[in-house]
Amino acid sequence: MTVYLNGKFLPLDEAKISVLDRGFIYGDGVYEVVPVYHRQPYRLGQHLARLQRSLNGIRLANPHADAEWEAIIHDLIARQPFADQGVYFQVTRGAAKRDHAFPANTAPTVFMMSNPLPVLSREQVEGGVAVVTAADERWLRCDLKTISLLGNVLARQFAVDNGAVETVMFRNGYLTEASASNVLIVKSGTIIAPPTDNLILPGITYDAAVELARAAGLPFATRPVPKEEALAADEMWLSSSTKEVLAVTTLDGTAFGSGRPGPVYRRMYSLFQESKPKPRRAA
Ligand code: PDD
Repeated sequence: MTVYLNGKFLPLDEAKISVLDRGFIYGDGVYEVVPVYHRQPYRLGQHLARLQRSLNGIRLANPHADAEWEAIIHDLIARQPFADQGVYFQVTRGAAKRDHAFPANTAPTVFMMSNPLPVLSREQVEGGVAVVTAADERWLRCDLKTISLLGNVLARQFAVDNGAVETVMFRNGYLTEASASNVLIVKSGTIIAPPTDNLILPGITYDAAVELARAAGLPFATRPVPKEEALAADEMWLSSSTKEVLAVTTLDGTAFGSGRPGPVYRRMYSLFQESKPKPRRAA
């Protein structure tokens, strides 16, 4: 597999960084994951805007202009043998003598790789998925897409340990998000999503769902969602760049909602499929 590290494309096993890299020592960096359909990135501009927002949030200068990011990403995509990809890229504060405070004049580390985009099974799309619930024990800047993901890692493992795909989290009695996806609910036909404040990641797929709902005239509201309301919703969805939009049909081991993906989900699923880049016709 060909990856990108600090200006060079090279085989994965030749990509090496210093053990003093602040990404390794402190988790001091930010990242993005962009889905690629038929070698075309989906909503790349929005991902690059969120990268800038995350970099601003940790006070790290963006090493590349958007046009440079786009060129590197397209080059990396072209070097992979598969068409549907998940491009992962991260920027850390670079390698420096260990000291919590920012180092002076240290070049950031830029790493990028692209894996095959996980294929969502028919069973997942048509049957829905299982989630478990837990308290959200993460920090208070979950709006930044930082590589410090221990809270998310522990939450995801809790799901795996309980035979679920995700852990849906609640903080102070309100729905936040899942370990690596946003969570939306549907009640009496209205799609309800928690506001994109400091407690959740402003998901690009969440934004896509909001836009698609608006354009299709589906009732939509953004507001805090009390835990009791989430648990009593008609539908619950997960959204992420690698999961698209998936319906929750089992929660904490029991059937959720009707136990089947609901009608609003099915509508959103087809709107989302239509919004994805189509195969390019050979010239
Ligand atoms: N995760 N919330 C969290 C905590 C996430 O990690 C993600 C995405 C999302 C959804 O964001 P988006 O729709 O922009 O993918 C919400 C990525 C896929 C990951 O870490 O692999």
